[in-house]
Amino acid sequence: MTLRLVTVVGSLRQGSYNRMIAQTLPELAPSGVEIVAAPSIAGIPLYDSDLQAKGIPLQVTALGEAIQAADGVIIVTPEYNYSVPGVLKNAIDWLSRLSPQPLAGKPLAIQSASMGVMGGVRAQYHLRQTLIFLEALVLNKPEVMVGAAQNKVDIETGRLNDEPTRQFIAGQLEAFAAFIRKMS
Ligand code: FNR
Repeated sequence: MTLRLVTVVGSLRQGSYNRMIAQTLPELAPSGVEIVAAPSIAGIPLYDSDLQAKGIPLQVTALGEAIQAADGVIIVTPEYNYSVPGVLKNAIDWLSRLSPQPLAGKPLAIQSASMGVMGGVRAQYHLRQTLIFLEALVLNKPEVMVGAAQNKVDIETGRLNDEPTRQFIAGQLEAFAAFIRKMS
């Protein structure tokens, strides 16, 4: 059975290295795994329960439906100030208000990239903490952190082109597919 996975990118900027990694994932996926981008988190308003009372924004319901329909989610995110970018946390806060809550019981893998040597590791642990409460089934290992991401992508094609990093990420995708199959 083909597994259908969606990517959620934690950066809004056009030249995002994290997005470049996310858009390289389909070519790194093992056979029997399809990976597509989930609807963007760009444009999701800041969470406000008064706004929620008027109706969940369409961008949130679209993202929630894509996650609900997927066999798994891959979050690819930068680290901002040692933590999760506000835009990503905001999107997750909105998702947590949906019923059914789409991340509950959903297999999820995390990847991060930054210009520094740590590759966003500290954001990953904050993200994991939030995902515990939301009952996502987060893959523990292998962990993917891409340091010095600016040297590992081709900004012309918008793709990850560093071969060792590509191979390492392909290994995580294989482990994630096995993890999902074991869960189901
Ligand atoms: C950063 N950056 C950063 N990098 C890092 O390794 N640890 C950090 O804590 C931070 N903090 C941080 C805060 C803010 C507000 C910005 C804008 C940036 C640098 C970050 O890794 C770099 O800008 C990446 O290129 C961001 O990812 P995208 O947008 O390229 O995907």
